[in-house]
Amino acid sequence: MARHLITSAIPYINGIKHLGNLVGSQLPADLFARYQRGRGHEVLFLCATDEHGTPAELAAAKAGKPVAEYCAEMHETQAEIARGFRLSFDHFGRSSSPQNHRLTQAFAARLDEAGLIEERVETQIYSKADGRYLPDRYIEGTCPNCGFESARGDQCDNCTKQLDPVDLIEPRSVISGSTDLEPRETKHLYLRQSKMRGELSDWIDSKTDWPVLTTSIARKWLNDGDGLQDRGITRDLDWGIPVRKGEAEWPGMEGKVFYVWFDAPIEYIACAQEWVDAGKGEDWERWWRTDKGADDVRYTQFMGKDNVPFHTLSFPATILGSGEPWKLVDYIKSFNYLNYDGGQFSTSRGRGVFMDQALEVLPADYWRWWLLSHAPESSDAEFTWENFQQSVNKDLADVLGNFVSRVTKFCRSKFGEEVPAGGAHGDRELALIADLERRVRAYEGHMDAIEVRKAAAELRAIWVAGNEYLQDAAPWASFKTDPEAAAMQIRLALNLIRLYAVLSAPFIPDASAQLMEAMKIDDDAWPGNVTEALSVLPVGHGFAVPDVTFRKITDEERADWHARFAGIRS
Ligand code: MF3
Ligand code: ZN
Repeated sequence: MARHLITSAIPYINGIKHLGNLVGSQLPADLFARYQRGRGHEVLFLCATDEHGTPAELAAAKAGKPVAEYCAEMHETQAEIARGFRLSFDHFGRSSSPQNHRLTQAFAARLDEAGLIEERVETQIYSKADGRYLPDRYIEGTCPNCGFESARGDQCDNCTKQLDPVDLIEPRSVISGSTDLEPRETKHLYLRQSKMRGELSDWIDSKTDWPVLTTSIARKWLNDGDGLQDRGITRDLDWGIPVRKGEAEWPGMEGKVFYVWFDAPIEYIACAQEWVDAGKGEDWERWWRTDKGADDVRYTQFMGKDNVPFHTLSFPATILGSGEPWKLVDYIKSFNYLNYDGGQFSTSRGRGVFMDQALEVLPADYWRWWLLSHAPESSDAEFTWENFQQSVNKDLADVLGNFVSRVTKFCRSKFGEEVPAGGAHGDRELALIADLERRVRAYEGHMDAIEVRKAAAELRAIWVAGNEYLQDAAPWASFKTDPEAAAMQIRLALNLIRLYAVLSAPFIPDASAQLMEAMKIDDDAWPGNVTEALSVLPVGHGFAVPDVTFRKITDEERADWHARFAGIRS
């Protein structure tokens, strides 16, 4: 039995995520966690909310709530939606937890002892009206390059020139619009990750089996001249983890907090502590400390491509720089973007389908199937309602759902609600079994390699094989001349339903549970060989005809939803 530590990039607290976010990290991570559990391995699957930073403060202000209260509420909201999508986290933590406070402060102390922290005085823009320093992207003004009037402090969206806030003509605060801004000197801590360039580069080079998307982004940052710059890890904000050197004060850093991107990945570790403290587990160190057994753990991270630099360089710099025996990631699975109906999903503009809205329209399995079978792996992908309708109606309703319904209803009417006897398998059955044997092994191969689309395609092919067999064997016809043969065919088909439930569970867990219940069995052991797997339901075993497993999406509904989600969410 292997041990798998699995983390999904932790979603920002400010607002409900859209389907593009979901398919880029949490959902494929859940697929992999469910699959590894299904194979009988030990899994610790962690996720959390990413609660610090300016966006969280501003979202709370907009909601008219104290930021701690806002975060607690939004955490609950996100947890509820995650349950709705059947995301099977062993723990859904919070980066604002006391565990993460302590651990983040301890990491900073270790990095300082290792000579990797530097204090720098720098000039930043302070807004008197807002009573705060403004991060670059919260300052707007006229672009000195092209004259665009809404250029941001970090970049002009019109001419794409990288900017410094002090370059802007007539700068103003995005938060209040105030132009009463002044440069002020402020002291910050920098992580000297440039010192670790060699070590990080060797580490990335050793990852020859990683997806190209992951390593190409990492190498670009390592090699592009100023790629691995030292990085400011503190901010002048109220909300966040106070800058301390372990448990001690950090002189000169009073009132400052760690930068959200410093403490967020540390939450992956703190989350395991939260899991133990919540009474759900025993020992977090055997997952995270290589001196306490984590050497045997295989650690896989899931994320969208924009997160790759932080996970291939910044977080490893924190881990390696600490000089402590923390577990490093073994495999990073990253994703491109999912677009929405000819444009981009956008949280800030409310464009696309958001997780809560999706569940109002259809149950989780419909979304899980479409999203995973169209995961943006080798390139960006696009959600359209036509494509969604087509996949659901074909794959789920016509292929899988129809198979289940025909087999169970036919059996009930001709043999009653128990597995009929019939004779031994004939040539047609043996050919099907041989085909399934190959396909199941191929499916496992894709799942092990986290080739999500390929795995979905193979699973669909496994469903199709059953349908074609049924069409070909035609027990409704053979019943008239050779009821023995029809009974044998239906015995096999009922067993196939159970096998489908087991194999499909990582993709469509609710349907899988429904089929297991209908087959009145809880033996969900992963198939060793297909012949044995197809004799788990013995002759005489009772079953029930399930309710419709997947319904079709009508043209009217499709048009309706298309219109409903065409605008922007307020
Ligand atoms: N909140 C970030 C995002 O949604 C992801 C943070 S992942 C972690 O893009 F590593 F920082 F935890
Ligand atoms: Zn410009």
